[in-house]
Amino acid sequence: MGIQWRDSLAIGVELIDSQHKELLQRFNALLSACESGKGIDELKRLLVFLDDYIVKHFSDEEQLQRTSGYPGYEAHKKEHDGFIERVMAVKHEINSEGVAVHHVMETNNMLLKWLLNHISKVDVELGKFLRGAGV
Ligand SMILES: [Fe+2]
Repeated sequence: MGIQWRDSLAIGVELIDSQHKELLQRFNALLSACESGKGIDELKRLLVFLDDYIVKHFSDEEQLQRTSGYPGYEAHKKEHDGFIERVMAVKHEINSEGVAVHHVMETNNMLLKWLLNHISKVDVELGKFLRGAGV
């Protein structure tokens, strides 16, 4: 189960592709923790990890877009910002209410839908541009 990396997800920039692989692995770790009843513990770990990692990953990706003159930069950045906001909202809720199973399910869902959709559509689009631009 989980999301398996496949070559069609690659954007052709090693740094970004390896960050995407790491994100998918972390998501898969949450899924398998859920299957063995340890979802809450893994969610706490995942949120700590995402804190730094996602900001670094998005800023690496955005920098690449700016330096290559990518025309979809503004819209792409909005997607990133929206994702960070959603992660923050879950963290905020957990901080005020304590962590519960529904947080695990929400995060699972959010990662599954957002991550796969974003990488396979929005980031792959960037990859096409970069290949065409010869970056
Ligand atoms: Fe992206």
